[in-house]
Amino acid sequence: MKVTAIHSPLKKISADMYAAFTFQDAELFKQSIKQLQDDFASALSDAILLKDFSGKENETLLLYSHNKKIPRLLLVGLGESEKFTLEKLRRASATAAKQGKKLKSATLIIQFPEVKHALKESVEEISVALTEGALLSLYKYDKYISKEKNEKQLQKIFLLALAQNQITEITKGITAGTILAEATIHARNLQNAPGSEIFPETLANNAYAVARKNGFSATIFDKRKIQQLGMGGVIAVSKGSEKEPRFIILEYGKQFKNKGTVALVGKGVTFDTGGISIKPAANMAEMKMDMSGAAAVIGTFQAIAQLKVKKHVVGLIPSVENMPSGSAVKPGDIIRHYNGKTSEVDNTDAEGRLILADALSYAEKFKPEVVIDLATLTGACVVALGHYATGMMGNDDQIMDTLTKAGEKTYERVWQLPMFDEYEKLIKSDVADVKNVGGRWAGAITAAFFLKKFIGNYQWVHLDIAGTAILEEDQPYTPKGGSGVGVRLLVEFLQQWKK
Ligand code: BES
Ligand code: ZN
Ligand code: ZN
Repeated sequence: MKVTAIHSPLKKISADMYAAFTFQDAELFKQSIKQLQDDFASALSDAILLKDFSGKENETLLLYSHNKKIPRLLLVGLGESEKFTLEKLRRASATAAKQGKKLKSATLIIQFPEVKHALKESVEEISVALTEGALLSLYKYDKYISKEKNEKQLQKIFLLALAQNQITEITKGITAGTILAEATIHARNLQNAPGSEIFPETLANNAYAVARKNGFSATIFDKRKIQQLGMGGVIAVSKGSEKEPRFIILEYGKQFKNKGTVALVGKGVTFDTGGISIKPAANMAEMKMDMSGAAAVIGTFQAIAQLKVKKHVVGLIPSVENMPSGSAVKPGDIIRHYNGKTSEVDNTDAEGRLILADALSYAEKFKPEVVIDLATLTGACVVALGHYATGMMGNDDQIMDTLTKAGEKTYERVWQLPMFDEYEKLIKSDVADVKNVGGRWAGAITAAFFLKKFIGNYQWVHLDIAGTAILEEDQPYTPKGGSGVGVRLLVEFLQQWKK
């Protein structure tokens, strides 16, 4: 799908649908309605008289127009201008795009909204949001669904500028918005792909292909190399599976090393059965998405390479399939990790932390200033925060602050959970340096304490995306399934961090 900026008198344009946004505020509402009535549909006055549309948030009105070159007019309400936000605009744009798709309009014009008084963001940032909302909302994982040939569908979206001098800025916004949406969609596709398609080897191939295409480097360690290096967690968790593990290293922007290195670590469990501590059957299919952290890291690299972000970034992805079998790791086993520390496996379903332990200690090699890990780590985090906030824990307030702001801007919001000293004793082991489970309470926090045992000499933040990466219900521009969460958040973070 392509989005393009245009500026042109209305009479010169033809399209299958024209979408316009209106605030609910009386004066603003009257103004926009009057113009649209003249340009498109006199029937609009009846609709307004009948109170069929008043510009409330999420409200829509579809009318058939007297302008034969643009037969459909769609109004989308923005609510009160005082309460307006960039996220509401993303959602309104999504509503317009989805309606265009539903009615099989091949071309959709979205009128650039008059929102100067309501938003502090620039025309470029507004264009990013409009593009993201539209493109992300049109996503559907339909790779394995047989398609009817020649079915008419939405092909092009035009952002109609209010003035010619907006075009450059709108175009910049569209470009960035498209890069961000496509990278998020790449992550969603990896998440939604079945475990039979995406397993450690194919996940690594995918990362490698993205690296080649976008001009950054990728190194893949196979099982032998992983063993040689002493990454005992990766080896242990992968033992039960016929699929061999991989350890993926991405690197972008070496020339910016002098400004410090950020490492991104992503959990890449391509299927989590729980292993010998096997999970119940209900919803186990969701665990094909237990590599959402890895998907977010790969998507982020695609985006920062295309946006040419000026930062040195290293990506580390330990990838395994967690299966029960005669060769699987067992409760009671003790693992020696990359940094020499040992962990007691009390529950083989707490596998994510076992592979992340190796990756976090390996990260030290790159002398990073900041390490951020993303993982669908605990069901406990979903219990605590549901699907609307990522759990955040770490040892550096400045990083967490920047992530919080990036989360508000992108609406991939994060919420800090405490790392009070008292929690640490819950993962004490009698037989090893640490135990991989901490009992019934505060599961998201004890998981973070486990990870903390393996960090090196750097500042670190852990993002538990178990709830935000895997959606059970549609969200405004995110259909249920893999959300691609983390991509827009991390790109924004990298752009803001020590700018
Ligand atoms: N991958 C799961 C966590 C998860 C659960 C992600 C639900 C998304 C949705 C993880 O490996 C796991 O199984 N964690 C266990 C830990 C427990 C055994 C300490 C959990 O959360 O139950
Ligand atoms: Zn598990
Ligand atoms: Zn898992």
